[in-house]
Amino acid sequence: MIKMGLMNRSRREIRQLIKNSKITICVVGLGRVGLPTASIFADAGALVLGADINEAIVNQVNGGECPLSDEPKLAKLVRQNVKKGNLKATTNVAKAVAHADVIVVCVPTPVDEHKVPNYSAVKDACKEIAKTLNKGSLVILESTVGPGTVESMVVPLLERQSLLRACRDFGVASCPERADPGRMVENLFSVPRIIGGIDSRSAAVASWLYETAFGVDVVKVSSPKTANAVKLTENLFRDVNIALANEFALLYEKLNIDTVEVIEACATKYNFTPHFPGAGVGGPCLPQNSYYLIVEGIKVGNIPYLVRLAREINDRMPDHVVTLVGEALNEIGKTVKSSKIAVLGVAYKPGVHDLQLTPTRKVVQKLVEMGAKISIYDPMFRNEQVFGTKVADTLEDAVAGVDCVTIVTAHGEFRDLDVRELSRLCSKPAALVDARNTVKPQAAKKNGFAFRGVGRT
Ligand SMILES: NC(=O)c1ccc[n+]([C@@H]2O[C@H](COP(=O)([O-])OP(=O)(O)OC[C@H]3O[C@@H](n4cnc5c(N)ncnc54)[C@H](O)[C@@H]3O)[C@@H](O)[C@H]2O)c1
Repeated sequence: MIKMGLMNRSRREIRQLIKNSKITICVVGLGRVGLPTASIFADAGALVLGADINEAIVNQVNGGECPLSDEPKLAKLVRQNVKKGNLKATTNVAKAVAHADVIVVCVPTPVDEHKVPNYSAVKDACKEIAKTLNKGSLVILESTVGPGTVESMVVPLLERQSLLRACRDFGVASCPERADPGRMVENLFSVPRIIGGIDSRSAAVASWLYETAFGVDVVKVSSPKTANAVKLTENLFRDVNIALANEFALLYEKLNIDTVEVIEACATKYNFTPHFPGAGVGGPCLPQNSYYLIVEGIKVGNIPYLVRLAREINDRMPDHVVTLVGEALNEIGKTVKSSKIAVLGVAYKPGVHDLQLTPTRKVVQKLVEMGAKISIYDPMFRNEQVFGTKVADTLEDAVAGVDCVTIVTAHGEFRDLDVRELSRLCSKPAALVDARNTVKPQAAKKNGFAFRGVGRT
């Protein structure tokens, strides 16, 4: 703990405090966001206490091990900083907070089965933090929440149990995480941070912490509410644009126009941002972030219809992939029922060992329901049990003798597919369905495949 508190310190003092290991930062939640954040703060010199309710994660971190296998450079950061004594983990949030000058909250904020954001982890974390929150400390929320949640939920929870007053006794800021899974460390060192404080002091101190430890630019916005609106706006912009690309794909397939050709040609215009159609959208952010805003919209009687519609379109894409599989198989006189189908890619995006809301789940479920025999290959999940099937060790093993190959995740390995070799391995005749624009349609057809691709001709 810094004597006389953190909140009165200058930028220069905060730099020195971090460099000289005189500041203690408690990172609550050591997952995809929290562990890289904790490790980088520790690497910059801060004493970091990571607090997580998952004992297995805490034990792994304290043993210098990294629970995430798909984040380059993270294992080294964890190992080095645990060894140096700058990074420790605990399951006791309140105890860690008792020593902390800064508390960074990185707990999950999923939506439930009714598409309503579930903030229970943030609430639980805030209640624990409030038990031992020190005067003069700063609480930063990195978790994604709807605009206004920090002001209406986080601050009151912190004040209630701590008997301290925000602004007067402690600071609060939002710094929503914007990094890309699979590239978290690289992004944390390069992507500017958006910071909004409940007062100018909170925003300033939070900015100096991130500028110093991460070496990134900080964009200060007027409030936590605005910071969270920025986070949601950038992700919803992407979700809506992908939905638009998917809508074009569904229409152009019927009109026999190749959507990828269209989008690539459009991209030569100065104000066109290309987005491509696919099997749908997965991961912890895009499929859920819309609902934080929709729920806030409902409260004020202004529903963002386009955002809601985009979600519906993207959520329907796995069904469309299954339709294409059926069409391609019918073309060669086969049906989904009893066909052997190899599904390539289970991760929700290329290069990650992560199944959160992956569109592949629905594709596999539906094909199985329809009576297909499924084999799966994903280079990030070799030999693991996924969706009731053991993932093959190699692509060759998965596709040997199948009636149809369906590409659902654009892993690098699938981008360099030798369709000639693929056709040699499959049953004859065979179908090839490309939901991620990884294969050239002409090459697939030339090699004897009945080809279908999302938005392709
Ligand atoms: N993963 C991403 O790519 C990403 C990107 C940007 C923003 N976000 C947001 O960041 C937040 C965290 O996401 P994540 O992907 O790191 O989640 P995660 O599931 O990988 O990790 C969250 C961790 O928090 C722990 N936890 C849960 N409740 C807790 C509690 N009450 N106290 C202490 N620890 C607790 C869990 O055990 C887990 O280890 C979410 O709001 C998410 O939407 C995630």
